[in-house]
Amino acid sequence: MFEELSLHILDIAMNSLAAGARTVEVAVLESRRHDWLIVRVKDDGRGMDEATLQRVIRQPHTTKRSRKKPIGLGLALLRQTSEMCGGTFHIRSAPGKGTSVTASMRLANIDCPPVGNLTDTLVALSAHDTDVDVRLHYRTDTETFQFSSQEGRNHEPRRTKKTQRQDATASRTA
Ligand SMILES: Nc1ncnc2c1ncn2[C@@H]1O[C@H](COP(=O)(O)OP(=O)(O)OP(=O)(O)O)[C@@H](O)[C@H]1O
Ligand SMILES: [Mg+2]
Repeated sequence: MFEELSLHILDIAMNSLAAGARTVEVAVLESRRHDWLIVRVKDDGRGMDEATLQRVIRQPHTTKRSRKKPIGLGLALLRQTSEMCGGTFHIRSAPGKGTSVTASMRLANIDCPPVGNLTDTLVALSAHDTDVDVRLHYRTDTETFQFSSQEGRNHEPRRTKKTQRQDATASRTA
């Protein structure tokens, strides 16, 4: 298991890049109010056929030819983390259509890793192939951030209206 969720995300999103994705959408929803941390990595890469998907779901499996043993770790580690933290793990995939990996965790669970450095993860993914659009949607109970490596080169993640509205309310009541 990785110490930070951002490292799990890096690993899962690297699978998307390896699968030829042109768009990788990372969503992190962190709600203390509802005690959930939900991560989704969705891509438009080559996807998996049913047989590969079943193999990958049933046991750690890799299609990397460089491995002596056909064992992959990225999906298995995230699955282990989410199940250990009272959550669930799902993969949806179809050949030519892409893949979506969703993991949830209970935030209050003692083993739930901190989100960690999402910026470093985005920078690493964006630098891998500058033509790929790496997107982040990050939402907490009070704030939402959006980032796109194509729109947002040289920009900080921007705040959305939800946050701006709250800022306006805060300054009115100050
Ligand atoms: N987004 C994806 N699109 C297409 N195939 C995928 C995707 N994610 C995973 N796979 C398939 O599932 C296999 C297992 O992925 P996993 O991340 O667990 O291991 P790995 O990437 O092969 O190796 P490791 O992550 O340990 O370096 C991959 O080898 C690949 O065949
Ligand atoms: Mg991997």
